[in-house]
Amino acid sequence: MAQSLDPTTREALLTRVRFYRDLGLTEFYRRPVDPALAAQFAAGGQGLASENWKYSDQDQTLRTPSFPLLSAERVGDHEPASAPHAYPLEDQPIPPRKPFPAAPEIVAAIPAADRAAALQLIRDEIGDCTRCALHKGRNKLVFGDGSPTARLMFVGEGPGADEDAQGLPFVGKAGQLLNNMIAAMGLRREEVYIANVVKCRPPGNRVPEQEEGATCTPFLFRQIDVIRPQVLVALGATAATWLLGARQPLAGLRGRVHAFRGAQLIVTYHPAYLLRDPRQKKEAWADLQIAMRELGLKLPAKA
Ligand code: URA
Repeated sequence: MAQSLDPTTREALLTRVRFYRDLGLTEFYRRPVDPALAAQFAAGGQGLASENWKYSDQDQTLRTPSFPLLSAERVGDHEPASAPHAYPLEDQPIPPRKPFPAAPEIVAAIPAADRAAALQLIRDEIGDCTRCALHKGRNKLVFGDGSPTARLMFVGEGPGADEDAQGLPFVGKAGQLLNNMIAAMGLRREEVYIANVVKCRPPGNRVPEQEEGATCTPFLFRQIDVIRPQVLVALGATAATWLLGARQPLAGLRGRVHAFRGAQLIVTYHPAYLLRDPRQKKEAWADLQIAMRELGLKLPAKA
């Protein structure tokens, strides 16, 4: 397709083609490659923000063309924070951040009193879903759980065995740890909202595939639009990938506040990963303190 391009331009173009393909945007595959477009890619892709980006406009990190795309490699929750990153450790003050410009209005706010009904409408629309292959192994669809007016929302990857059995998110071991994390923030689980990238359990708890995520996340995004949380916490790389639309190592996404659909998005480790590597809990707690700061919650006094 792009054989006439010099190797650097060609590689830059292919990288972005793969990236957009990962997002489910296959349309531009089918069009002849416009050399001007290819040059624009090579120059960093400015001006090529797709529809997928429109909710992330304020996050310069997403518009930075040099985001490392990790080809087919899985950027799982299981990935240690290898890259250095500016990160507030527990004993250091959380650095102040510049205020965001006003959040974009995604959809007109639904009055708080109507949000439960609005979520139910989404649930009804999903119905006994067979839109992707995950329904084949499902016992119960896991829509989401918590307060329809939550100021804080967590997004995980997908239901595990316990969640599949109960129809509720984060009710297994990872859920117990998440409950503890919520309690450490001074909140009750009923005060927050919890959902996942996919609503049906992937076989063997594997990472949801592209088509599964692409089929299911529109419903998640609509839930977010109804609830309009002030702060969203992406639990693990899968949630971060689908919310931010960029596949990056977790380490590069943590320690700062992103913008997503009018919410302040914070990325942290998945509780299942923290169960496997409890040493990272300290870093996860630093993430949660950023969320607390955004919510105006009282930070615990230093010992
Ligand atoms: N892991 C997730 O990502 N979500 C759940 O609901 C449970 C475990």
